[in-house]
Amino acid sequence: MNQKKVIVTGGMGYIGSHTTVALIEGGYKVIIIDDLSNSDLSTLDGIEKITGIRPEHYQIDLKNSVETLRTFQEHNEAIAVIHFAALKAVGESVNLPLQYYKNNLLSLINVMEAMKQMNISKLIFSSSCTVYGQAKELPVSESSPILKANSPYGNTKQVCEEILMDEAQTDTSIRSISLRYFNPIGAHPSAFIGELPLGVPNNLMPFITQTAAGIRQELKVFGSDYNTADGTAVRDYIHVMDLAQAHIAAMNKLIADTTDKKYDFYNVGTGNGYSVLEVIKSFEKMSGKQLNYLLTERRAGDIEAIYAATEKSSAELNWKPQYTLDNMTDTAWRWQQSLGKKA
Ligand code: NAD
Ligand code: WQD
Repeated sequence: MNQKKVIVTGGMGYIGSHTTVALIEGGYKVIIIDDLSNSDLSTLDGIEKITGIRPEHYQIDLKNSVETLRTFQEHNEAIAVIHFAALKAVGESVNLPLQYYKNNLLSLINVMEAMKQMNISKLIFSSSCTVYGQAKELPVSESSPILKANSPYGNTKQVCEEILMDEAQTDTSIRSISLRYFNPIGAHPSAFIGELPLGVPNNLMPFITQTAAGIRQELKVFGSDYNTADGTAVRDYIHVMDLAQAHIAAMNKLIADTTDKKYDFYNVGTGNGYSVLEVIKSFEKMSGKQLNYLLTERRAGDIEAIYAATEKSSAELNWKPQYTLDNMTDTAWRWQQSLGKKA
């Protein structure tokens, strides 16, 4: 059988590795480009254990246009690219703006130039709900205004979306979709792959699991005076395997699409908002462990609440999330247990 080939940048990372599994299970052949700046080669073992296939991996920095093009030349029959590779720590981006702009903008531009040279026409881009900031109305839909980003990281996502939009106004061969992820958590049910945060995690879920595993002493709940049901902030958590499937759905749309529309964007969330305390309760129920946590000050830059309107992605991508919050906290915990005390 002639398998359809897809180039996955950042495929060794958290979302990229889960999407690689979904692509392989969907019959695609995956080529990974990842410089391992925020991931580990052992991810390939996990992917192989789950799928029986070890995808080809190129350890290349996508900021290097020559090496990027050379790799694309070796795979010029690829039908599509999924571009996950980016730096993603909001707080760090405030201190290292040049690094964030250089990495996130240049890697997208190099990927698009290589695609054009190789006549690869389909592109899926990892965007973020961060483009909405604190929306006035919830749930936030794709037609909600894009607010000025409050971090260089957030701005890279906005500018990258603009690059895709501007390119689509030309006679380009590239058709692209931005997926605006809400808060991805959880891990593959096998616990062979999951999130591998370097150092002290910024995000809620890995901080919870590392606290329960005894790596961190206590979880600080940032803010208990928000205007929400229990006072803690509300987010739309989505299981990473549901997110992976959204990429398959977006790929199907790009393959089937014969319209003139060369760019579109979709929310990828469940449509449910859960508070920090609700996530903790779910975690405690699924793990059977009591979490050591403390209510503290709000974290600078945090918004009060956000969750997705899902009508557009459900209707046009024909995609619906399957996993519950309990599935998310359960798989995150099983992944942490498989890591042991490794932080
Ligand atoms: P991740 O850090 O786990 O994965 C990103 C991968 O890209 C890493 O393996 C890293 O080594 C690689 N990479 C980074 N810069 C590179 C470069 N110049 N050349 C080659 N490889 C490079 O992150 P993730 O959580 O899997 O996120 C994937 C994408 O989704 C990112 O674009 C991120 O901004 C976006 N996103 C993530 C979240 C989230 O909460 N995790 C939410 C919204 C959007
Ligand atoms: C979730 C909630 C925290 C840690 C970030 C990025 C966003 C997107 C997703 C990439 C918040 C609270 C957290 C802790 C806590 N990423 N929290 N104690 O901030 O919603 O979104 O990741 O695009 O751009 O900003 O995710 O997991 O950090 O926080 O109380 O130790 O948990 O205050 O309410 P966030 P998060």
